[in-house]
Amino acid sequence: MNEVASKITVVHGNITERDVDAIVNAANQTLLGGGGVDGAIHYAAGPELLRECVALGGCETGQAKLTRGYQLKARWVIHTVGPIWHGGNAQEDELLANCYRNSLQLAQENSIQTIAFPAISTGAYGFPLHRATTIAVREISNALSTASSILRVEFVCFDPSAESVYMKELRSLFSS
Ligand code: APR
Repeated sequence: MNEVASKITVVHGNITERDVDAIVNAANQTLLGGGGVDGAIHYAAGPELLRECVALGGCETGQAKLTRGYQLKARWVIHTVGPIWHGGNAQEDELLANCYRNSLQLAQENSIQTIAFPAISTGAYGFPLHRATTIAVREISNALSTASSILRVEFVCFDPSAESVYMKELRSLFSS
């Protein structure tokens, strides 16, 4: 099996339960919490996470910032802000790609070897799932082909429909 493909797994479950070095949060620009995966991560991590986030002073769309994981199994949380879908002509694809690139860049800079991603922007932010998955799989596999320090990347899908889309996308990327 392709060496990059062997580092990528698709998991159906709750990202707050993943026992990895870092989980990625689909945050908003305030970094002060919200619903969806953001709400779940803050709830599971406990109040210290919010205290650290307040000190970060927010985050631009496409960028990523690091905090500790506190009561989570994961030692770190990488907070990234995905684009809100506006129809596809407002650099949404590029901004979403930046979320994956910048999160992995931050992971490498902090010796993070195992990392779990949610399906960034595909919930409240309305980014079409198939289009977002193509971007996520492409960016992660490109990054892994040069980032030898990353040993495992999990795509954590909260709903089964996302899981089948990720599996299909990975098969088509690595079977060609
Ligand atoms: N574990 C893994 N994935 C989850 C979880 C969870 N516990 N909860 C939700 N998800 C999935 C959703 O099913 C969706 O596929 O995460 C994906 C992203 O959905 P959202 O959490 O709504 O994130 P996003 O679309 O990026 O919108 C971000 O929503 O929660 C607010 O503060 C957040 O304003 C920001 C916006």
